[in-house]
Amino acid sequence: MTERKIKCIGVLTSGGDAPGMNAAIRAVTRTAIYNGLEVKAIYRGYRGLIINEIELFKTQNVSNIIQQGGTILKTARCKEFTTPEGREYAYGALQKEEIDALVVIGGDGTLTGARIFSEEFNFPIVGIPGTIDNDLFGTDTTIGYDTALNTIMQAVDKIRDTATSHDRLFFIEVMGRDAGFLALNGAIASGAEAAIIPEIATKDDQLELLIKNGFRKSKNSSIVLVAESESTGGAMGLANRVQIEYPQYDVRVTILGHIQRGGSPTANDRILASRMGAAAVDALLDGQRNVMTGIQDDEIVYVPFSKAIKNDKPINRDLLEMLRILSI
Ligand code: F6P
Repeated sequence: MTERKIKCIGVLTSGGDAPGMNAAIRAVTRTAIYNGLEVKAIYRGYRGLIINEIELFKTQNVSNIIQQGGTILKTARCKEFTTPEGREYAYGALQKEEIDALVVIGGDGTLTGARIFSEEFNFPIVGIPGTIDNDLFGTDTTIGYDTALNTIMQAVDKIRDTATSHDRLFFIEVMGRDAGFLALNGAIASGAEAAIIPEIATKDDQLELLIKNGFRKSKNSSIVLVAESESTGGAMGLANRVQIEYPQYDVRVTILGHIQRGGSPTANDRILASRMGAAAVDALLDGQRNVMTGIQDDEIVYVPFSKAIKNDKPINRDLLEMLRILSI
């Protein structure tokens, strides 16, 4: 079957928002218009295709958004799109709107939906990794991760002041949805004493190891970053354990929560999002389909959906050891 020439691109953001998504929307819109294409913005993720919330975008629709957190297109986790009927309906909407290809910006769930849809309808889609979790395989980093890391670092710096004043042990829970990148690198950036992450939670009792290794030998206060995940026990679970098993510690918990998802994107995230947005349109024009834009060693790469979402992105375990050494 000959591929239909792409004249109109649809763009949407889906799943959890991430700082830098707006910069990506801007880059997609302007690169497409520069190349003589039409751009249609789809609101609220895949839901916009089902409730028909679609708007023709001009270059001015994306003016003054590069510095804004969140996503001007809104976002959602769309249940209907997980059903064959929902996707059939969405395909009908794309045909009605004469949208020939899609750029979807989001995380694991977004790309999983894109993969199923593109296979079902032979529809060209390019994905852009937009998630603070940094958990997509085939890209060194994802849009929003750097901003979230900086937010974590600033929050931990503040907590450190009070932790030191009171000689307390703090468990600070960070996001990551079963991935430890934010916890590990957030800990390194803020000089925390340790990170408890899901990647090694099944193998070791990290809390016990930490305390047995005498991690507070030369200090009165300590900060431990904990990745949210059932497998780590979460900050609350660990604090409860310490209160029972090691009552000599004065423990407190902070759950950073959605503060990590907001805020103006860092320069790194804006640049990454701009490069990936432009690369996504270039890829569609070059006839690429069903790939995610990635960045490896500062070069744009294209990663098949099947690879990006199927493989667990490995965490650099040497960094855990380094964190331990630097916190003595
Ligand atoms: O995937 C991004 C993320 O922020 C995860 O780190 C977190 O587990 C999840 O989204 C929270 O989702 P929601 O905003 O729907 O509560």
